[in-house]
Amino acid sequence: MHGPCFMEVYTLLVLLLVQAHAAGFDNLRGERRLQDTMDNASMQPVCTPKPAVSFVDQKPMCQPCASITINDQVKRCMFNTSLCDAVGPGETCMIDCAAPFVRVGNWTTGQCPKGNSIPDRMVMWSEPTCICPEPDAQQGYAQDSSGRWHCTQGFAGVPEVVCEPLPGCAGVQTFLRGCDKLVPCAMPSVDNCRFDVSRCTQVPPGGSCEIHCQTPLTGNHTVAVCKDLNTDPLQELDYFPLTCLLESCPDPSPWPIGYNKTADGKWVCATGYNGTARNRCELGDTWTSDCSAAAALTGCLQVVPCLAPTLTGLDGCTYDVSACTSVNPGEQCEVHCKSPFTGAKTEAYCPDGNTDPNGLVWTRPPCGLDSCDEPGQVPAGYQRFGTTGWECAQSYTGFAEKVCETTESCEIRAVLQGCLQLVPCEAQDTDCRYDFSDCMSVQPNSQCTVTCKAQNGFAGSSTTGTCLQGNTDVNGLVYTNPVCVINSCSDPANGNGYVKVEDHWECADGYSGRVNKTCMWMEDECVAEPLLSGCVMEQPCRLPDLGPVPCMYDVSDCTAVPPGQVCSVRCQSPYLGPTSDFACPVANTDPNRTLLGVLPVCGCGEPTPLPPGYNLTQDPFDDNKITYSCAEGYGGFARKLCQPGPDCTVDPLMTGCAIPLSCEAIFVDDSSGNGLARGAIHLGPALVGASVNESDVLYYEVFWADSCEDRMGSTALGQAQAGMGDACCRSDVYSVPIDSRPPEGATGWVVYSALRGGRAPVGVFVPLNQTMLNAIVIGNNAHFSQTVWIVFWLAVAIIGF
Ligand SMILES: *[C@@H]1O[C@H](CO)[C@@H](O)[C@H](O)[C@H]1NC(C)=O
Ligand SMILES: *[C@@H]1O[C@H](CO)[C@@H](O)[C@H](O)[C@H]1NC(C)=O
Ligand SMILES: *[C@@H]1O[C@H](CO)[C@@H](O)[C@H](O)[C@H]1NC(C)=O
Ligand SMILES: *[C@@H]1O[C@H](CO)[C@@H](O)[C@H](O)[C@H]1NC(C)=O
Ligand SMILES: *[C@@H]1O[C@H](CO)[C@@H](O)[C@H](O)[C@H]1NC(C)=O
Ligand SMILES: *[C@@H]1O[C@H](CO)[C@@H](O)[C@H](O)[C@H]1NC(C)=O
Ligand SMILES: *[C@@H]1O[C@H](CO)[C@@H](O)[C@H](O)[C@H]1NC(C)=O
Ligand SMILES: *[C@@H]1O[C@H](CO)[C@@H](O)[C@H](O)[C@H]1NC(C)=O
Ligand SMILES: *[C@@H]1O[C@H](CO)[C@@H](O)[C@H](O)[C@H]1NC(C)=O
Ligand SMILES: *[C@@H]1O[C@H](CO)[C@@H](O)[C@H](O)[C@H]1NC(C)=O
Ligand SMILES: *[C@@H]1O[C@H](CO)[C@@H](O)[C@H](O)[C@H]1NC(C)=O
Repeated sequence: MHGPCFMEVYTLLVLLLVQAHAAGFDNLRGERRLQDTMDNASMQPVCTPKPAVSFVDQKPMCQPCASITINDQVKRCMFNTSLCDAVGPGETCMIDCAAPFVRVGNWTTGQCPKGNSIPDRMVMWSEPTCICPEPDAQQGYAQDSSGRWHCTQGFAGVPEVVCEPLPGCAGVQTFLRGCDKLVPCAMPSVDNCRFDVSRCTQVPPGGSCEIHCQTPLTGNHTVAVCKDLNTDPLQELDYFPLTCLLESCPDPSPWPIGYNKTADGKWVCATGYNGTARNRCELGDTWTSDCSAAAALTGCLQVVPCLAPTLTGLDGCTYDVSACTSVNPGEQCEVHCKSPFTGAKTEAYCPDGNTDPNGLVWTRPPCGLDSCDEPGQVPAGYQRFGTTGWECAQSYTGFAEKVCETTESCEIRAVLQGCLQLVPCEAQDTDCRYDFSDCMSVQPNSQCTVTCKAQNGFAGSSTTGTCLQGNTDVNGLVYTNPVCVINSCSDPANGNGYVKVEDHWECADGYSGRVNKTCMWMEDECVAEPLLSGCVMEQPCRLPDLGPVPCMYDVSDCTAVPPGQVCSVRCQSPYLGPTSDFACPVANTDPNRTLLGVLPVCGCGEPTPLPPGYNLTQDPFDDNKITYSCAEGYGGFARKLCQPGPDCTVDPLMTGCAIPLSCEAIFVDDSSGNGLARGAIHLGPALVGASVNESDVLYYEVFWADSCEDRMGSTALGQAQAGMGDACCRSDVYSVPIDSRPPEGATGWVVYSALRGGRAPVGVFVPLNQTMLNAIVIGNNAHFSQTVWIVFWLAVAIIGF
């Protein structure tokens, strides 16, 4: 349709167009636009300053989720996650079992969270149920109609399908495990000298055998069982314990001395021996090697005569056993008194069949001394009574008696005994609580009084002390201690927080409590010491914890506030705020007690000037009530921070408001050319500060932009309703179609966010590619006819020049 001659015409027309442009023609679309203010001869436009926009280094771009990684070696081969390799935000994918595993039930899904902007975030997923492929048939295993495996006859166990992936997930090896061949039980390991297990070889599972006692041992037998379904060749037969006794065994050879065997085979003691012969079978020294056992005989002792008893001490002086030096069993002898002792003799005997040399059975004869010499010297306390008798002397008491005594060296002497001297009881002060002054010397058969020692401050009852008749002991006074108490003591001097007012004690100034005076008994010194307690020194209260910025408070009024006093905490300039009262509790004695009160909330002044983007509203009725909001065209939530600086300075800082800007905006060309821009502006949701948030944006508007990147004219090229974006940024959320010729001076487009309060003060600039615009497109009739019209118009204009 289009021939080469058309091409030539077109080239010419474009040349004309370029000339027209250079000459300052500006009403190509019938619109006139005022030129930017020219600064000087170089014709550079001066742009009006725009509010600063803080761009984030890293926009939260929408990110596809990372593919699934599985650490478990088996599961990695089991699941096929290949469909989840590039899942975009909000998208899902399906997860299957990887061949040769077989899926039971449904596929499962993986999901990339909506609005995901985290790079390499893994898809969230759940595991499908995957089972192993069926294993091949194996000996010992069989499958029932429902597909369950069991062990065949001659095998036992719990069958189990094993499936282990081959290295690199190159398939899977599947086999059966758990059924084992039935085998006989092992013989029990026993002491073969005791037990006969010869009937127990090769006992099959479920079978049994008998275990007997090994000869010459005697005892019952027991049954040993091989458990059903035994598959372990080392499993021993199970049996009840069996006791085997060694009761008979070969006689010792030769017969041991002292023992004889009767015709009927019973062991007895030999002639000349006494006792009961006992025969016990005992294990031989070589039992473990040859199972030998032999009889051991005990119980017979040789019959021996009895010897005279050995006499010691006074017995040796008194008894004569010379007739009993060697007494044959069954024979008797006599024991006499040794001179000068007199008395009847006794009979002693050696028992029949005696086997103990000390076996003589004897009793001591009743030996006594009829008389002895008179004592050479009469000891004190005794005097003669008649010619042969004795009595106690004057001031002695008792029954005088003469006795004859034998010494260790068998000497005989006379001793007087039975008289004791009469003495008064003499009590002494041993305890400072009791007064024994009445009892210093109490004659026998008289009494005295024990009282409390008043001179030491004690008071109480009194008791009676008695010296018994015929008393011979100076410490013989019989008495009980009286009950004595001390209940008063002197007053200490004033001081240490205590003061005596009239007749009672009080806490001194600066002290609190209740006075408690006690008298403490000091036993060593025998005094009662006064002791005052109960008063504690009052303490000033401490400052409360002032938090992270203590310098914001003026606490000069509140250092060391005494109990019962109040003080004020103020905001320290440049901080501003109310004053709070603090109090120290009355009679405080705790040095750690802090002042009671609530710290004032200290703020700061207003930032001047108010930074752009913020608006401040003062309550018309209360100057101190100030509210903050984001200015027109700004989004977010306005807040004032009081930021502490060095040396207790404070900076009021406004935060929270930002200009919502489309996070991404690009021109996607469709078929621009011949001076006409044709395509669409693709744009993403608004970025407020560092995060995508469209909550303040109503819609987005696209305008032509001049070289200052400001919008040209007041009519938008198009709009896109907001609210389609996620929490992440991508440029294809909205699209505004463009099919328009740029006005004179246009360098691109600018995309604004429109808010409830008005249009954002700054927009995103999208440059226009002049090369693209100027491209020659052939075959578009509309363009061509328009171009022809323009060229014609231009030609007329040039001719006019
Ligand atoms: C005119 O603009 C040029 C470049 O923009 C600059 O160097 C020059 O100083 C300007 N002259 C005046 C008078 O502002
Ligand atoms: C995993 O799934 C994909 C797509 O369904 C399929 O092409 C591939 O063969 C599967 N891989 C395995 C090991 O099953
Ligand atoms: C499998 O998926 C189907 C369709 O998605 C559903 O109706 C069915 O309940 C699922 N079965 C199981 C066991 O989840
Ligand atoms: C010997 O064993 C059998 C069966 O085990 C039992 O009935 C019997 O009482 C046992 N005899 C003795 C003496 O223990
Ligand atoms: C052993 O007993 C027999 C008869 O019972 C007797 O004739 C013999 O003297 C006894 N021998 C000894 C050493 O006692
Ligand atoms: C010895 O024989 C006599 C009688 O014959 C008996 O009473 C005594 O207990 C026997 N045994 C010993 C160890 O003396
Ligand atoms: C007074 O002090 C004594 C001894 O310290 C104590 O046992 C007593 O309980 C106190 N009395 C009072 C009322 O505190
Ligand atoms: C006060 O506090 C200090 C440290 O916390 C502690 O060691 C001391 O025992 C406290 N004193 C009293 C009376 O509670
Ligand atoms: C500030 O807010 C007040 C009341 O909300 C409003 O009248 C005024 O126009 C706002 N000023 C700016 C600069 O946004
Ligand atoms: C978006 O901004 C609004 C107000 O500006 C705020 O209330 C909301 O919490 C923000 N949303 C997110 C997800 O940050
Ligand atoms: C403008 O578009 C042309 C052709 O489409 C391309 O080659 C060129 O790189 C573009 N220029 C810029 C600055 O993008």
